[in-house]
Amino acid sequence: MNSPENNSRFIIKGGNPLRGTIKVAGAKNSATKLIVASLLTKDKCTFYNSPNKIKDLQVTTKICSLLGSKIEVKDKVLEIQTKEITNACINQELGSSTRIAILLAGPLVHRFGKAEIPIPGGCRIGSRPVNLHIDGLKKLGCNVQMNDTHYIFEADGLKGAEINLDFPSVGATENILIASIFAKGKTVISNAAVEPEIIDLIKFLQKMGAIIEVRTDRKIIIEGVKRLYGTSHRVIPDRNEVASFACAAIASKGDIIIEDAIQDDLITLLNTIRRVGAEYQVVENGIRFFYKCKLRPIAIETSVHPGFMTDWQQPFVIMMTQANGITIVHETVYEKRFGYVEELKKMGAEIELYNTCLGGLPCRFASSQYYHSAVVKGPTKLKGAEINIPDLRAGFSYLIAGVIAEGESIINGAVYIDRGYEDIDLKFQSLGADIKRVQ
Ligand code: EPU
Repeated sequence: MNSPENNSRFIIKGGNPLRGTIKVAGAKNSATKLIVASLLTKDKCTFYNSPNKIKDLQVTTKICSLLGSKIEVKDKVLEIQTKEITNACINQELGSSTRIAILLAGPLVHRFGKAEIPIPGGCRIGSRPVNLHIDGLKKLGCNVQMNDTHYIFEADGLKGAEINLDFPSVGATENILIASIFAKGKTVISNAAVEPEIIDLIKFLQKMGAIIEVRTDRKIIIEGVKRLYGTSHRVIPDRNEVASFACAAIASKGDIIIEDAIQDDLITLLNTIRRVGAEYQVVENGIRFFYKCKLRPIAIETSVHPGFMTDWQQPFVIMMTQANGITIVHETVYEKRFGYVEELKKMGAEIELYNTCLGGLPCRFASSQYYHSAVVKGPTKLKGAEINIPDLRAGFSYLIAGVIAEGESIINGAVYIDRGYEDIDLKFQSLGADIKRVQ
C-alpha cells in the first residue's frame, strides 16, 4: 500500500455545473466475476467492454495469472485462457484485498480438487462475512477447513443440492452458481440475488454451455453439465457509475448524457430521480440526466435488486444535501455504510445518523446498535475542505461534494476510487469540473 499512486489525491475547485457527454465503463462487479468463471474451461474466453484500468480487475487478473491463466489485455478487450491450473493456493496479500478471490473456490476445486483461499476481512462498510458462501459450498459436497489465514476447500466432484439463502447475497449466489455448473444433478438456489451483474454472469455461463434457469421467485436452477467451452462476451455497462454521475450532474445543477447507460438496470434509480424533481431522458445511445428545479426531499431505503441499490446511496445522499427539506435514507444491506458522513460534516453537510430503522419497515439491523439510518437536511451550501476517503463509493460522493462546494477541496485517498472507476478525474474534467489529481 506504499506505492506513490496510493498517496494520490484530488484537488477540486467547486462551483461548475457538470455539462457534456461521457461514456460509462464496463461493470467492475460483472467483469471480475466473468474472469473467475472463465477458469471453468481450458478454452480461451474474450471479454469486450472490459474495464481493464480499474484496480479491482487488475487484482483479479493478477490472482488468476498466479494460478496459471494466460491473460492479454488491449484497450477494452481482455482475453484469458487457463489451459492448466498450476497452483491452487491464492496469494495471501492479493486474495485478502478483494471479495473476488473466494469465488474461485468452485473452479479450483473442479480443476485441482483443492483450493486455498485467503479469508476475506471485514471492511469499513461492514463485517462482510462469507458464511452463506461456505454453507452453500458445503451443501454441494465440498469439505471446508480453515487455518489462521486461509479457507481450504476440497472435493472429488460436487453434487447438486437445494440451497436456501437467508439473505439474497450477491457473492454467495455467484459462488454457488459458479461452483454448481459441474455438480452432478440439479442445484436449486432459493432466495437468490438477481442483480443485473448476476444475470450477466448467467448469460456468459450459458454461452459456455451451462444450463441455468432463472425463475421469477428468486430461484436459480442449475442443471450440472460435463464441460464448458470458450466464448466471447460483452461486459454490461456499470450501472453504479451511471448512478454516481447522474447524482453528480443533478447535484451540480448540470445536464449530462451518459452513453451506454441501460434503462433496464436503472428503473428504481430513474423513478427516484423523477420523484425528487430532477429529470432524465432515455436517448438513442444512453440516458440524459439533468437538473430541472429545486429538489424535493424523499424517504428511501436501500435494498437488493430491483430495489434502490446500496452503492447508489452515497452519491444520492450528497445530492440530497441540496434538496429543500429533510430526506431520510434507511440502509438495509450493509450495517456500516454511513461511515463516510463524519468527514462530510467538515464541509458543512447536515446529516445525522440513527441506529433505528427510519422511514421504512424494520430491517435485519433493527435490534442492533448500527447507525444505519440517516436524516439529511437541505439545502446546504457546502464549503471546500480537506477530507479522507474511507471506501470506493464514498470516495465518489466526496468528489461530488467537492464539485458543488464553494472554494477548494482536497480529497485524499484516490486509490479507493481507482478500485472501481476508470479515469475518474478525466471524466469529471470533460464535464467541466475543475479537478486535478496530484501525488
Ligand atoms: N452477507 C452475509 N453472509 C454472506 C454474504 C453476505 O451475511 O455469506 C451479508 C453482507 O455482510 C452484507 C449483505 O449480506 O451485509 C450483502 O452482501 P452481498 O454478499 O450481497 O455483497 P457482496 O457480494 O459482498 C457485492 C458488490 C458490492 C455491492 C453488494 C450489494 C462485488 C465485488 N461487490 O458485494 O459492491 O454493494 O454486492 O449489491 O460485486 C462496491 O462495488 O463498492 C461494492 C461494495
